[in-house]
Amino acid sequence: MASDARLVNSILIDKCKKVFEGLNSLVDVGGGTGKLSKAIVDAFSHLECIVLDLPHFVANLQDGGNLKYVAGDMFKEVPASDAILLKWILHDWNDDECLTILKRCKEAISRQNKKGGKVMIIHMVLMKNEKMNGEAFNSTETQLFFDMLMMALVTGKERQEEEWAKLLFAAGFSNYKITPILGLRSLIQVFP
Ligand SMILES: C[S@@+](CC[C@H](N)C(=O)[O-])C[C@H]1O[C@@H](n2cnc3c(N)ncnc32)[C@H](O)[C@@H]1O
Repeated sequence: MASDARLVNSILIDKCKKVFEGLNSLVDVGGGTGKLSKAIVDAFSHLECIVLDLPHFVANLQDGGNLKYVAGDMFKEVPASDAILLKWILHDWNDDECLTILKRCKEAISRQNKKGGKVMIIHMVLMKNEKMNGEAFNSTETQLFFDMLMMALVTGKERQEEEWAKLLFAAGFSNYKITPILGLRSLIQVFP
C-alpha cells in the first residue's frame, strides 16, 4: 500500500493541485503509515493533515510538522475537517459498512464547514472496455480480478459508477465528480 501511495503522490500532487485549493485541513481515513499524507503536507505547507487509523497501526508513528497520527475507528467517528481522503478503503467493505463510513465522513466535514467541504475517494471505478480520456481502456479483466479478490479476502467488492452513485447519494451527498488519475485508479470528489 505504501509503494502504491508513492505512485499516486506524484500524479495527485503534480497534476491535480486544484483539488486541494481552498482546503486548510484534511483527514486521511485509514491512511496507514501516512505516505500520501506526508507528501501532501510537504507540497501544501498550509494544510493540516491527520492520519486516522486503528490504534495498533499508529501507536509508534511520530507526528511531524502539520502531520498528526490519530488512533480511532472510522465506523465510530472521523475528526472534523475540510476534506476527507479515502484511498483504497471502500472496496474492503460491503455496502452497509461503506454507508456507515461515508456517513461518518459527511458528519466530519459538516462539523468543520456547514456547507462546503468534500470527500476525496481514490479508487477503482469498474468500467467496460470503453474509452477513458479518449483512449481505449483494456483493463476490465484486471478490474474483475480485483473484484474477485475483494470477494474472497474481505466482505467488499469493486464498484461501477452506478453503484458508487447509489452509495454516495444514500449517504446523503448531493454530487460527485470522477477523474481518472492513474491506470486503474480514479479520483472521486464527493460533495455534501
Ligand atoms: C487497504 S489499507 C489502505 C491504506 C492507505 N489508505 C493506502 O492507500 O495506502 C486499509 C487501511 O484501513 C485501516 N483500517 C481498517 N479498519 C479501520 C477502522 N475501523 N478505522 C480506521 N482505519 C481502519 C487499516 O489499518 C489500513 O491501514
